[in-house]
Amino acid sequence: MSVLVINEIKKLREIIKENRKEPKTIALVPTMGCLHEGHKSLIAKASSIADLTIVSVFVNPIQFCPGEDYDRYPRTLEADKDAAQSAGADIIFAPSVSEMYPNLQKFSDLTMVVPPYELTDIMCGKSRVGHFDGVETVVTKLFNIVQPDIACFGMKDIQQLFLIKKMVRDLNIPVEIIPCPLVREKNGLALSSRNKYLSDEDKVKALSISRSVFAIRDAYKAGIKETKKLFDTGLANLDKGVELEYLEFVDENTFKPVESVNQDTICAMAARVGNVRLIDNIILEV
Ligand code: PAF
Repeated sequence: MSVLVINEIKKLREIIKENRKEPKTIALVPTMGCLHEGHKSLIAKASSIADLTIVSVFVNPIQFCPGEDYDRYPRTLEADKDAAQSAGADIIFAPSVSEMYPNLQKFSDLTMVVPPYELTDIMCGKSRVGHFDGVETVVTKLFNIVQPDIACFGMKDIQQLFLIKKMVRDLNIPVEIIPCPLVREKNGLALSSRNKYLSDEDKVKALSISRSVFAIRDAYKAGIKETKKLFDTGLANLDKGVELEYLEFVDENTFKPVESVNQDTICAMAARVGNVRLIDNIILEV
C-alpha cells in the first residue's frame, strides 16, 4: 500500500481514531522533510516497533531565527513520499503553515513551550536564540495531534534530543522517546538536509568537521582526558575554511560543561562552511 499523505489535522485525527480501535502502537517521526538516510533510519526504527508509523513533514517557521534559511530550506515532498514509504512509513502528515499556526501573523499571541534558559543559552541555542522554543512548541503540537506511543529522534541534534526528553518528563507527556544513532556518509560527514547547500569544494572543507570529532575520540581513547587538550586536537583538524561556532564537552545527563572527559561526555560541534551551518557530535565511550 502506498503511503498516505494527509494535510489536515482533523483528517489525521479521524484516521488515528479509527486505528486506535484495535490496540495498536503508533509511532511519530517528526521531520522537516528533505528526507535522507538518517531520517530513513528513524522511520525504519519506528516501523520496526509500531503498527502505524506517521512521519510529519513540516518546515517549522517558528524555529528559524531572523536571517536563517527558512525560505530556502529544501522542500521535496514528492521525493519524501518515496523515501518515507521505502523506510516503512504508513502516513505522511504534511500540514501547511496556516494549518499548524492559524494566527502566525500575531506571533506574540502564540502559546509557546519554552525550555529552561540555562539549557538553551549554550551550544546551538546560544547562536540560535529562540530556536528551541520553536522546536519544543511544534513537537508538543505534533504530540498532541498524533498522541503517539513512541517518537523517534536522531542523535545528530543532540541538544534537541536532550531538551525533548526533558520536556516529555517535565510535562508528563505520555510518549516514549527513542533516540536513534547519527548516520554518516561513508567518508564520515554527518548526514543533514543542509548538506544539499554544499558545493563539492565546501564538502571537502565540511569533512574536516567529522575528522575533528574523530580525532578527539581517538585522542581520548589514547588516554587524553583534559578538554583543553582535546579542544586543541579538534581545532588542529579543522580546515582553515571552516569557521568554528562552538566545540563543547558536556555531560550527557546534565549538559553541563566538563573539564575532564569520561564515557558520559558528549563532544559536540557547530561550524560554518560559507553560510552553511553544520553540526556534529560524538559520545566519548571507550
Ligand atoms: O529535527 C528536526 O528536523 C526538527 O527540529 C523537528 C524535530 C522536526 C521539529 O521541527
